[in-house]
Amino acid sequence: MRTFQQVGPLRTYLRGIRAEGKTIGFVPTMGALHDGHKGLIQRAKGDCDLVVTSAYVNPAQFAANEDFDRYPRDMNADQAIASNAGADAFFMPSTDEMYPAGFQTVVDVPDMGAVLEGAHRPTHFRGVVTVVTKLLNIVQPDRIYFGQKDYQQLIIIEHLVRDLNIQSAVILVPTVRESDGLAMSSRNAYLSEQEREAAAILYRALMLADEMVKNGVTSADEVKRDVERLISSEPLASIDYVALINPDTLQEVHSLADGVALVALAVRIGKTRLIDNWFVAPAGIPISKNRLSSQSRAK
Ligand SMILES: Nc1ncnc2c1ncn2[C@@H]1O[C@H](COP(=O)(O)OP(=O)(O)O)[C@@H](O)[C@H]1O
Ligand SMILES: [Mg+2]
Repeated sequence: MRTFQQVGPLRTYLRGIRAEGKTIGFVPTMGALHDGHKGLIQRAKGDCDLVVTSAYVNPAQFAANEDFDRYPRDMNADQAIASNAGADAFFMPSTDEMYPAGFQTVVDVPDMGAVLEGAHRPTHFRGVVTVVTKLLNIVQPDRIYFGQKDYQQLIIIEHLVRDLNIQSAVILVPTVRESDGLAMSSRNAYLSEQEREAAAILYRALMLADEMVKNGVTSADEVKRDVERLISSEPLASIDYVALINPDTLQEVHSLADGVALVALAVRIGKTRLIDNWFVAPAGIPISKNRLSSQSRAK
């Protein structure tokens, strides 16, 4: 695997790859790589001739009161994990490289960036969309890969790519989970032992919603109420939001009778904010029309 810290040499390298007629898959991350990232890299490696992974903790997507300073960073471990997962190139730019003096352009998907996560983190998606636009222009991949855990991010990037005629396919990869169902995340490292146990409540809440909808409950309010009740039964948990949404528009739905909906959660366990989501549909309706052929349950 080759490592790059600067845009110029990475571009030169990728120009050569493209000239050979090879396809390029791209997996952007914030580093502190775990098995979720590994899943994205492996999927990209299966689809594409060459895989580029980036690890960059993007200051523009953190608000002043958030965890930018203490976000976990371990570029040596990350290079080993990326290489073992099959990445061919690893891009780890500095902030001077990404946002040199005089930088001022912002890219925004304002409506879809204002709901759910955006309602709680108003500048977050502007930061994400701007950095992803830069990375897409740098790497110019055939395919770019995102995890289901950050579903809203995927939808927003799909918009970006469509709106700005970017020639990359946006691919959704199922969430990789711990054995108790907790979605893998770099931020799980913040959890104490007791909080780590309590964090399993998110997945249990998603499974409750799954079961209710499969059993014929069609009222989104009813599902939401029971999910909120279950999460609230965990003393270390406090809810940021529980939402049942249309997976394409991200708008809240009221009836679950006629198709696939997404249950999206943001929950604080102690001081750590965790998100997760799950497609739900009445028995007999496959979720496969909605970007994924299946979603991964805890093993
Ligand atoms: N458990 C997971 N399963 C699948 N993909 C994941 C998982 N966790 C993160 N990802 C994906 O990895 C990419 C980089 O996310 P990043 O912010 O670095 O990780 P995290 O959200 O775990 O801190 C995103 O596309 C994200 O959706
Ligand atoms: Mg993240």
